[in-house]
Amino acid sequence: MTDWLYGEDGYYATYKNIGKSGDFYTAVSTSKFFGGTVAKHIISLVDEGFLQQNATICEIGAHHGYFLADVIEFIYTLRPELLSTLDFVVIERFDDLQEHQTNYFKESFGDVVSLTHYKSLSELKCENAFFIANEIFDAFPCELYFKGKTARMNEHEAEFDVDNDWVSEKAKKYHKDRGEIAIGYEEFAREMTDSCDKFEFMTFDYGEMQARPDFSIRVYAKHEVIPFFDENIKRKELFGKSDITYDVTFAHVKDAYEEAGVEFVELKAQMVALVDMGILDLLEILKEADRPLCYEEIKNDISMDKATFYRNISKFEDEGILNAFESNDKKRYFEVKLTPHAHFVCVKCNGVECIKNIDITLPTYEINNVIINGTCPSCLVTV
Ligand SMILES: C[S@@+](CC[C@H](N)C(=O)[O-])C[C@H]1O[C@@H](n2cnc3c(N)ncnc32)[C@H](O)[C@@H]1O
Repeated sequence: MTDWLYGEDGYYATYKNIGKSGDFYTAVSTSKFFGGTVAKHIISLVDEGFLQQNATICEIGAHHGYFLADVIEFIYTLRPELLSTLDFVVIERFDDLQEHQTNYFKESFGDVVSLTHYKSLSELKCENAFFIANEIFDAFPCELYFKGKTARMNEHEAEFDVDNDWVSEKAKKYHKDRGEIAIGYEEFAREMTDSCDKFEFMTFDYGEMQARPDFSIRVYAKHEVIPFFDENIKRKELFGKSDITYDVTFAHVKDAYEEAGVEFVELKAQMVALVDMGILDLLEILKEADRPLCYEEIKNDISMDKATFYRNISKFEDEGILNAFESNDKKRYFEVKLTPHAHFVCVKCNGVECIKNIDITLPTYEINNVIINGTCPSCLVTV
């Protein structure tokens, strides 16, 4: 798995299109609210005094850089003064990805935000930090274990004939007679504690406190999931070209951190965590701007390129959070979906307004938009 993912030609060694058109997509590539909610949580930690104004905000294994960029964008919206005091860091071992992330940050924030890269946590030294990681623990290499024996890969076939006491001990501890045993969690936890005096670490992954005693290892290729032990799998062809992952045993992550002296706070479902951190409040904030806006009107406030803007906004549309329509000026306008209402578009100034005093319910129909064209009061005055 180490060679498959991190070898010279390994899957993560070069920039991959993780996202809808890639092999798989993570929560980070699908919704901006994920980063937004974490931003809100970071601000609460500053307000409570756990994080200093000059704390380090560090993402580990950032890939595109979308997650940290989303966090930064929402910090800018909610508490702009923190942007100049917080220190933003990404831990990324591959030069190619570091370069990609640097470019993405430049494109999104220009010189307003500076990003520091380190290849490993062991290079970072700071006093106070918030660490975030999305789907990294399922990308740590693992050993495969089956009834007392550890596997050795031979010509892409697993031969279970190795005696490995460390793996057997972990298997026993996590009640597995077969399955994956992750390698590297202990060292990673120690590196994090050595890098910082006081920190909070939030991480999201697929898995369970006690993952099932079975093999969950699988390959993702073009959104198809192929179990690693599927009889028709073509491992040689997929090697290094597709993502490989497995369910995380969170008890193993927790034990690794507790052994390193870190207090475990809680494990909860991602949606529950997002609600607890205030995703609903965030929607409330966005709701306040309930006049439909187009990209050109907000681009100066969001310092985001057009492609990124549309990537995020179309997801909100898909999720039914935003309503969008094309106006006379051929621009697309967006607003938070509240009660159905019509829009007035002025044919002279192209201004768009919400018209809420017209009943537009049509029993048995689903209405997307009602657009009224005409001349607005200000243009009528100046005619
Ligand atoms: C499934 S991808 C997730 C990428 C990104 N976080 C996202 O959500 O789109 C796993 C990432 O974890 C990174 N990773 C795995 N182990 C790591 C470690 N020990 N230190 C830093 N990054 C690591 C990999 O290089 C890869 O970029």
